Amino acid sequence: MEDASLPQPQSVEERPGPIFRRLLRFDVVDSTNEAAKLLLGHGADEGTILVAKRQSAGKGRHGRAWISPPGGLYMSLVLRPEPSQVPVLGLLAGIPVVRALHHHGVLAGLKWPNDVVFMERKIGGILSEGVYREDRFHAVIGIGVNTGIDLERLPEDVRERATNLRREIGETVDNDDFLEYMMGHFEDLVSRLRTGTGDGLLNDYRGLCTTIGREVVVATPQGKLAGRGYDVTPLGALIVMDKAGRKTEIVDGTVEHAK
Ligand code: BTN
Repeated sequence: MEDASLPQPQSVEERPGPIFRRLLRFDVVDSTNEAAKLLLGHGADEGTILVAKRQSAGKGRHGRAWISPPGGLYMSLVLRPEPSQVPVLGLLAGIPVVRALHHHGVLAGLKWPNDVVFMERKIGGILSEGVYREDRFHAVIGIGVNTGIDLERLPEDVRERATNLRREIGETVDNDDFLEYMMGHFEDLVSRLRTGTGDGLLNDYRGLCTTIGREVVVATPQGKLAGRGYDVTPLGALIVMDKAGRKTEIVDGTVEHAK
């Protein structure tokens, strides 16, 4: 019997896969990540995509809100990665998003770890979360892309530093087309991680990461650190080199690029 306390998708579609074989569509949820976690074992398992037309309580990194008006792409992917691949998966998840933006004509990049930016304005973001169900670790990778949102609906401080796909290319892209193109790259990414043929992926990330080589200030739980983005490690940490040539690995932080 249907459990009324669980989010109810408007539709459930089968997909060709090979990994992502099921797509749950919602009109509105609080957060597709939260819906994925609630639905683990109840219709959202490994290889499920959840997508919503809007979110009433979308979540960003570091406890921030992700304002989610209609017109944007809001989705979560459910996977059951090897524990050793969890950190790098969260990092590399930015690659398919950027590839899809490139395909549609926006030369976006990744501000470490995976803020999707174009000309220093944010166009998308990723929130990866881990959750255990029946002793199995699941990763929920939440992706938000400002495809066709009305930027006026964002709070002023967010709007000043945001952009959307429609504004950058002057036309509206169908969210389903965007999703399908991006999912082709996700299938490839996850397959390569699984089959151990993902050696080049970190280099792909480096090529797309605009923080490497930039002057940065990073706010970390231990305080602020200034220097130059030097590299990312295989575990996804950012290496910052200060003026004295000292290198520090940052696992968690918010990066600002110097103007
Ligand atoms: C960030 O840059 O702070 C991450 C933003 C992640 C937003 C997406 S939208 C779909 C998924 N559901 C959420 O609540 N958050 C992510």
